[in-house]
Amino acid sequence: MEDNNSSKKQDFNEHIDNRPKTNHSQLKNQLKLREVKKDDVTFLFELRNDPSVRESSFHVEPIGLTDHKKWFQEKLKAKNSLILIAEYGEQRVGQIRFDIGEMANRAEVSIGVLPKFRQKGFGVKILKIGCKLASKNLQISSINAFIKKENLISIRTFSKAGFEKKGYLEYKGYHSMEMELDVSK
Ligand SMILES: CC(C)(COP(=O)(O)OP(=O)(O)OC[C@H]1O[C@@H](n2cnc3c(N)ncnc32)[C@H](O)[C@@H]1OP(=O)(O)O)[C@@H](O)C(=O)NCCC(=O)NCCS
Repeated sequence: MEDNNSSKKQDFNEHIDNRPKTNHSQLKNQLKLREVKKDDVTFLFELRNDPSVRESSFHVEPIGLTDHKKWFQEKLKAKNSLILIAEYGEQRVGQIRFDIGEMANRAEVSIGVLPKFRQKGFGVKILKIGCKLASKNLQISSINAFIKKENLISIRTFSKAGFEKKGYLEYKGYHSMEMELDVSK
């Protein structure tokens, strides 16, 4: 009886061990970033209006389609912005955007990952690859992120991608954390 049980247990363990292994590093390695295209307009609209993305943003109100399309057309032409789309296989999983503002040598970054693709390591990977591409393609020495103080998941994600905490400040009416990545070297 005991032998039978232990052999069943062994079978079960073998079954477990033979399962195809899908771990986060395998997923992350299949992630690709590419420049935004005209037909990303709907994907970006949905991502921008995801409630958690709105909540993390400094403009919390939902965005209308007409406003989004206008914003998108301008962004596509803008020389001081870079939008990259992250794809896992055929699926778009998120975006990262760099905007150069008044200080010509620094870019402000924002990132969003669709809820169903979160907590798989994509956010950190997108930041790492995206910041490398931005530092190659834009004449910048730093990349800065302004994150609402309570958005701890995002602060953690940026830290894991190598960003350093610069300190708290009032940003667009919200108590925020500024984080920075030095890309001058
Ligand atoms: C911030 C965001 C991009 C992170 O994306 P992600 O793909 O989930 O990130 P990762 O999987 O690389 O996770 C990064 C870290 O955060 C942790 N994390 C992510 N989501 C979490 C959650 N819901 N609860 C607890 N920890 C979480 C991960 O566990 C990981 O830490 P660990 O490696 O120590 O476990 C995503 O949550 C998002 O799009 N949020 C809305 C938009 C936003 O806040 N943008 C940032 C302001 S610009």
